[in-house]
Amino acid sequence: MSTPGTVARVRTAPSPLTEGTLRDGTAALIWPLLDNDHDLLRAGYAELSPASRQRRFLAPVPELSDSMLRLLVDGVDGVDHLALLLTVLPEGEPARPVGVARLVRYPDEPSVADVAVTVTDAWHGRGVATALMTALLARRPADVTRLRTTVAADNRASLAMLARHGTTTTHRDGPGVLVVEVGDLAPPVAQQETARG
Ligand SMILES: CC(C)(COP(=O)(O)OP(=O)(O)OC[C@H]1O[C@@H](n2cnc3c(N)ncnc32)[C@H](O)[C@@H]1OP(=O)(O)O)[C@@H](O)C(=O)NCCC(=O)NCCS
Repeated sequence: MSTPGTVARVRTAPSPLTEGTLRDGTAALIWPLLDNDHDLLRAGYAELSPASRQRRFLAPVPELSDSMLRLLVDGVDGVDHLALLLTVLPEGEPARPVGVARLVRYPDEPSVADVAVTVTDAWHGRGVATALMTALLARRPADVTRLRTTVAADNRASLAMLARHGTTTTHRDGPGVLVVEVGDLAPPVAQQETARG
C-alpha cells in the first residue's frame, strides 16, 4: 500500500492504467507497481498459502525479506524489469490488490525474459493471472521475443497461463521442476501501434 501523504513515481511510461473485467465479471484495474509499494508486496505475500509461496519461488520462502523487497520493488526500472499490480473492485466490497506480475529480461540474452505471477489464493481461477499476463506482455520491450521461466511440474495453473500466450516447449530441470519456453508471443503495444501507422 502506498504510504499516505507520499507521492510515488510511476516507472512504466505507456498506458499507466488499464481498466477491465476479469473472466468472472469482476471489475479490475491494472497499474505499475510503485516505488513505495514495499509494504503492500510484503503484506500480499504474507497472505499467501504455504503452497502458493513454494510455487512462486520453488523453495520455502516464508516471508519477503528486506533484500528481496529491494530487488522486487527498487529493482523495477520499467524497461528491463516491469512489474504490474491488479486491484479488484468487487461490487459492494472494498477495492483490494490481489495479484502482481513481473517480467525480467535476462541480461546476457536480452531477447528473452523471465516472468512471474502471484495471485492471492482466494482469487485463484478467476482470470487475474490471465489479465496481468496480457497487460504485461503488451508493455514488454519490443525486442523481447521469448519467455523462459522455471515452474513446478505440477503447477497446472501456471503451465496453462503460459500456454495461453504462445507456443510452449518444456524440459525437465531437476526433480519436479520444468523450464518452460514461450515463443510466438503477440506483438507488444508499441509494435501494434507502429503497424497501424
Ligand atoms: C499460477 C497463478 C498465478 C494462476 O493465477 P490465476 O489467477 O488463478 O489464473 P487464471 O484464473 O488467470 O487462469 C490461468 C489459466 O490457468 C488455468 N487454471 C487456473 N487454476 C487452475 C488449476 N487449479 N488447475 C488447472 N488449471 C488452472 C485456467 O483455466 C487458465 O487456463 P486457460 O487460459 O487455458 O483457461 C496462481 O495459481 C498463483 O498465484 N499461484 C501461486 C504462485 C505461482 O505458482 N506462480 C507462478 C509461478 S511464478
